[in-house]
Amino acid sequence: MTPTPPDAVTPGIDVVVDPDEALRANRANWDDRADVHAESAMYDLAGFVADPAAVSSVVREDLALLGPHLPGGTVAGLDVVHLQCHIGTDTLSLARLGARVTGVDLSPRSLEVARDLARRCGLEATFVEADAQHAADAVTGEVDVVYTSIGVVTWLPDLTAWAGSIARLLRPGGTFYICDGHPMLYTLDDMRSDVLAVRYRYFPTGEAEMWEDPTTYTGEDRRLAHPRTYEWPHSLAEILEALLGAGLRVTSFGEQRTVPWQAHPLMEPVGQSWAFPEPMRQWVPTTYSITAVKDG
Ligand SMILES: C[S@@+](CC[C@H](N)C(=O)[O-])C[C@H]1O[C@@H](n2cnc3c(N)ncnc32)[C@H](O)[C@@H]1O
Repeated sequence: MTPTPPDAVTPGIDVVVDPDEALRANRANWDDRADVHAESAMYDLAGFVADPAAVSSVVREDLALLGPHLPGGTVAGLDVVHLQCHIGTDTLSLARLGARVTGVDLSPRSLEVARDLARRCGLEATFVEADAQHAADAVTGEVDVVYTSIGVVTWLPDLTAWAGSIARLLRPGGTFYICDGHPMLYTLDDMRSDVLAVRYRYFPTGEAEMWEDPTTYTGEDRRLAHPRTYEWPHSLAEILEALLGAGLRVTSFGEQRTVPWQAHPLMEPVGQSWAFPEPMRQWVPTTYSITAVKDG
């Protein structure tokens, strides 16, 4: 086995951790990442400001899945809460498409970048610092759509609280949408480029996976002051049961073959996304999507 070079990733190990301590570590890590991401080519904030019609590729792909479940097929004119909005590129893309948006995130530095981006773009948006598991306590009023996408539930220990909060945020008839990294993708050993191998846990045990990663996914070499993170593997059944248990009616479920970041060294670029080469593309799903409605 190749020895781990200094400054490399220490792969996730299962640990028992106090959730508050874990969320504090994650907040510090995401604050660090916000500064790196704000200057990254991947998020390209200057390009987003310069082109008033720019909409992130994540939102474009999400709307192809979500649009058919919205009255009129569009977010235009709807009240939308975006959970785990990070530095706001997706939130402000929804605003550019005519939605009244509120972005929620745990990381104050991410929200500062998002507010500054809104100002530079001349877009109306509200950004609220809150834990996504309890967003309904921090956002006033009910909305038509709760949206969350790409790199989200793995950061949340308690999906029952999360789903309950989503149900409270939605007005009757409102729609929840998620597209996220597939839990099966997250089981793969992303340090091996010779084979697709399962290395990490699929099923939830209540334990967290603790990682040490000195860099972030945008490809910059900049070191993070807080490299430790805690994530919680959630199976598809756990995610669906949380939503159903909160009284939401699932109206669609999909599994996809591309993902917006290079989640495994064997992946190749496909447009603005990444995918396994064939025939592996048919072996493992990369993202899943769900729409669910709060019945009136
Ligand atoms: C991968 S980003 C999601 C972003 C979006 N797809 C993007 O690329 O802009 C994950 C975000 O989740 C946020 N986050 C992590 N744990 C959270 C929590 N418990 N509550 C709210 N936000 C959280 C982080 O601060 C980060 O901004």
